[in-house]
Amino acid sequence: MITLGIETSCDETAVALYSGEQGLIGHDIHSQVALHAQYGGVVPELASRDHIKLLLPLLSKLLRETNTKIPDIDCIAYTKGPGLAGALLVGASLANSLSISMQIPCIGIHHLEGHLLSPFLSHSSLEMPFVALLVSGGHTQLVQVNEVGSYRILGDTLDDAAGEAFDKTAKLLGLNYPGGAELSLLAEHGIPKYDLPRPMLNHKTLNFSFSGLKTAALLLTKKHGDSEKNNADIAASFQKAITDVLTRKTFRALDQTGIKSLVVAGGVSANNHLRHQINLIAKRKNIKVHFPPLEFCTDNAAMIAYAGYRRWANGSANPDNGSFSVKPRWPLESINY
Ligand code: KG4
Ligand code: ZN
Repeated sequence: MITLGIETSCDETAVALYSGEQGLIGHDIHSQVALHAQYGGVVPELASRDHIKLLLPLLSKLLRETNTKIPDIDCIAYTKGPGLAGALLVGASLANSLSISMQIPCIGIHHLEGHLLSPFLSHSSLEMPFVALLVSGGHTQLVQVNEVGSYRILGDTLDDAAGEAFDKTAKLLGLNYPGGAELSLLAEHGIPKYDLPRPMLNHKTLNFSFSGLKTAALLLTKKHGDSEKNNADIAASFQKAITDVLTRKTFRALDQTGIKSLVVAGGVSANNHLRHQINLIAKRKNIKVHFPPLEFCTDNAAMIAYAGYRRWANGSANPDNGSFSVKPRWPLESINY
């Protein structure tokens, strides 16, 4: 069974083909980072226009390169939300047009379900339940994943997402948007000598808050951000503070649930320092950790194709049947069944 995945929720145009028998057949991504970098953030209208321009050529190229014909496809999975409304509509429209004209069932996937299941793209032995730390540009959540379609939010951010905090701090340090990856490279040359706050670390919930940390980083750059060396020290201090909070709350979630398996997914899961700290503690506590392959940490369509395949295979997918809508705001728990 072959599932076509389409992802257009934000600033990546992506397509993928996943086979139940062979695994990932192929995938392709076009990143709009260069388009938005000059504005210091994603411009929604430009994102939609770029998706319109690139989605069809990207799909044609993938079909050609994988020697796949549209009638070979058994199911189409597209990102229905959350994300930018106009951007989501581009993927949803193509998915539904193909579905109606070729009579292929089409299903809308929750973007975060894609991230949550992304480690399965390389760890087929991963067992559920697991706790997931989902850290991306728009979300920071601790989720208990019992099985496909059963998600319980254990903790959430009250303000900025972890990736957003990385991006805003990177901007303060004069780095290009989106900045998270560049900040982590800069941090490698610095010493974490500044004591930044660890917001909500001792709060009894598993929630996060990062806006205070960002403000503290702002004050620090005003005071010391006058040389490459000081900027590297600020980057290292910020990275250490945010990693401390994410790591400690994650292991607290594991302690509280008694679950011994951890998934770390979303763009920020590509961060080396975070990976290192989590691996270190997991080893000591005998917790199995699974990260998606690096190329599937940030937005991609392989995870959407995979989530679609799992939903379709277990009979829990609701095909669109010719009418569709997108859901720019869509709580993860509302997709439980
Ligand atoms: O999952 P993703 O591609 O998009 C969303 O669904 O939001 O995540 C993008 C976020 C950005 O904020 C980016 O700066 C961050 O992930 N990111 C990183 C790293 N690579 C990407 N943050 C810290 N360290 C990295 N190496
Ligand atoms: Zn994402």
